Parts: sequence; C-alpha cells; structure tokens
Amino acid sequence: MTQDEAKALVGKRAVEFVQDGMAVGLGTGSTSTLFIKALGERVKQGLKIRCVASSDASHNLAASLGMDITTLDKLPDLDVYIDGADEVAPGLTLIKGGGGAMLREKIVASSAKKFIVVVDQTKVVKTLGRFPLPVEVIKMALPLVHSKLAALGLNPSQRPAKNGDGPYLTDEGNYILDCACGQIPDPAATAAAIRGIVGVVEHGLFLNMASLALIAGDGGVTEMYP
Ligand code: A5P
Repeated sequence: MTQDEAKALVGKRAVEFVQDGMAVGLGTGSTSTLFIKALGERVKQGLKIRCVASSDASHNLAASLGMDITTLDKLPDLDVYIDGADEVAPGLTLIKGGGGAMLREKIVASSAKKFIVVVDQTKVVKTLGRFPLPVEVIKMALPLVHSKLAALGLNPSQRPAKNGDGPYLTDEGNYILDCACGQIPDPAATAAAIRGIVGVVEHGLFLNMASLALIAGDGGVTEMYP
C-alpha cells in the first residue's frame, strides 16, 4: 500500500466515527483533506452535521463540498475533532504543524470532547523529533525567539513560503520557526521551555490531547490509545 492509499483508507475509516447531529472539527493537511472529502460524500447521502475547520483551506474545501461549515465562535462545543499528525509516539504524544496550522488546530482540538488522529504508519515513532518541531512566532519577536530557541539547543530555522518567495505566513499572519532538534526525550519539558519564551504563539507538541489514533498500513487500520 502506498502512503497516499493509506491516507485515503484512514480518512474513510474516520468517517465512521461521525454520527448524525454531531458538531465536527475538521483538521488540516493531506490526510484531513481526504477525510473531509469522504465526509462530504456522506453529507451528500444525507448525514446531518455541522462543522468547524482548523484552517482556511479546510474551511473552503468543506464549503465547496456543500457542508454546513461555520466558525468556532458560533459553534464552540464540538463532539469530535479529526486531524492528521506529522509524528505519533507512545501515549499519543504528537508533533503537528507541518502544514503550518497548529495554532488553530490546537484551539479546535481543545474545543472537542474527543480528538481522533488519522495517520499512515510512516508517522509512528518511538520518540518524537525526527520531524522538525514547528513554533509559531509573532513577527516582531522573530529574532528574540530565534535566539532563545537556539540557546535551548533546538536548532531553529525560519520556514520559507511554499513558493519560495519570502517567509511562510500562517493563517493568523505569524511566522514559523522549524526546530530540527532531533529526539525529544521529555516532550513536556520541551513544551514548557518553548511556551516560556515571550513572542511564541504556539508550538507543534500536542500532549495529552488525543484520545485515539487510527493508523493505516499494509495490515489495514489499527487503533492506538494513550
Ligand atoms: C497541519 O498543520 C498539520 O498539523 C497536519 O495535520 C500534519 O502536518 C499532517 O499532514 P499530512 O496529513 O499532510 O501528512
């Protein structure tokens, strides 16, 4: 099974966790896109749900599929949030933000009773840190945060725009520093150290948030719990 096939399989499986009448949080990224498309098919067949998305891209996709999509201020209590991840480690500790949306993702995930992670098996690791850890930063604080992250040994570098033209900007208009820090043996301590830097808006460590991961691979979809 290719990685794309695995993403499509797990995206479809996640739809089974959505029931009529639910308020659903929609994630961001290529796996979430496949989930949203599969969910859109169910909506066309009559599934009645209301949705909130964690990025402009996912919001626009859901709207284009004719889904009832609104914003968190109008629908603040979600039954479930379904999203991808860049890494999943034991305990369902996650790195997210490869797509730059981790601030809104963390807000939407925190608004849901249940957060289900959808990944292909290449995302599962023993220890977080192979994937660079994204940190979202207020523009004027970039030099300050860069030097503080470097002093912590986290090896930050600014994310360029996807087209290579200037810096990457998040949906909230902030910069991202990607930290190629290698293995993160104590994610809670790293999260606290990053959180303590003035000018940091959010980081991509999602700890104690997910309640289930659906993992697609050659053997089908398996479930992982914290
Ligand atoms: C978006 O900011 C990210 O957190 C994504 O959820 C994560 O990067 C996974 O994306 P893919 O499903 O595209 O691998």
